[in-house]
Amino acid sequence: MATIASTNRQVRLKRRPSGSPTTDDFETVDAALGPIGEGQVLRRTIFLSLDPYMRGRMSDAPSYAAPVALGAVMCGHTVSEVVESRNAGFRAGDIVAGYDGWQAYGVSNGTDLRTIDARTAPISTAIGVLGMPGLTAYVGLIDIGAPKSGETVLVSAASGAVGSVVGQLARQRGCRAVGVAGSTDKCRYVVEELGFDACISYKQDDFVTALAAACPGGVDVYFDNVGGAVLVAALRVLNRGARIPLCGLISEYNATSNPGGPNLRPLLVHRAMIKGFIVTDHYDRFPAFLRECTPLVASGRLKYREDIVDGLDAAPAALIGLFQGRNFGKLLVRVSAAPT
Ligand SMILES: NC(=O)c1ccc[n+]([C@@H]2O[C@H](COP(=O)([O-])OP(=O)(O)OC[C@H]3O[C@@H](n4cnc5c(N)ncnc54)[C@H](OP(=O)(O)O)[C@@H]3O)[C@@H](O)[C@H]2O)c1
Repeated sequence: MATIASTNRQVRLKRRPSGSPTTDDFETVDAALGPIGEGQVLRRTIFLSLDPYMRGRMSDAPSYAAPVALGAVMCGHTVSEVVESRNAGFRAGDIVAGYDGWQAYGVSNGTDLRTIDARTAPISTAIGVLGMPGLTAYVGLIDIGAPKSGETVLVSAASGAVGSVVGQLARQRGCRAVGVAGSTDKCRYVVEELGFDACISYKQDDFVTALAAACPGGVDVYFDNVGGAVLVAALRVLNRGARIPLCGLISEYNATSNPGGPNLRPLLVHRAMIKGFIVTDHYDRFPAFLRECTPLVASGRLKYREDIVDGLDAAPAALIGLFQGRNFGKLLVRVSAAPT
């Protein structure tokens, strides 16, 4: 039986950043942890997911989701162990995925929890390759990109949580998969471990030429995770009828002035489509995604890499690092030890 602490360590949003977040934008507190009420479930956070969208929640600029209030606990997906339950749907020892945010314990009536079967895949995958990032890759690639065998799929942030899944699913559908990433180490991993056909670093001097050379037949699907200069380069190699699932614009999340936009002429010339999407509109696809991807992960045909930092106190610096490419794989915080 797990011991329950008397306080709940939390990381709260102290101030809204301008430009790159700093660790001073957060404050860490030990809040009181009272008894739970009838129908409630108390769980201990094991893993917390750190994701690029959190930069948007720190800002009060208009967006598709409400910001985190100043003084409130930072939001985030979690994998936890139920340590006390007054709810018939959960028992102490259950492993659940939820949205408890940056804190050591979460309490709710359980409607926000999904029970995880630790025998199918490591529990951390429920917020990574088999969680929100994996679903994002699946919906963006399959439903919006609609790749056909023989086509070329290009994806940016290719070594990351979303990009790594996009390229592997594209390969499984008979496509040529080309990645863009921020270092030669990441590119080597994308090709040698994940099985992409090629990967180009956008930091190399001749990036635009190298990208064109890696896509000799042009690009049919460009899965955009970053926007900016990589999107501009991708627009130059589009094929007729290309599709661009617009998933993220991480190169612009810390911008303090309007970054401007690319020249859209190639979209017209090539009768191409660009479509923004937000994964929370597509949770009806979760069962189909899990049906396809759980066996792939279990059998090692869908590979993933996790970048795990230890302790809640390390979360602010780790989140800041996402926007500098310091993470290599799905960024997670190990908040407490998993049960053995
Ligand atoms: N639409 C949705 O519903 C949805 C859902 C989930 C994620 N997303 C978006 O998907 C993208 C990837 O998310 P993720 O969770 O998979 O993150 P990730 O790729 O695991 O980590 C972020 C990566 O972005 C790259 N990056 C950072 N700054 C960059 C810049 N200025 N230019 C180019 N690349 C940069 C870095 O890799 P390099 O070292 O390779 O530069 C960094 O490691 C993000 O834009 C995120 O907002 C959207």
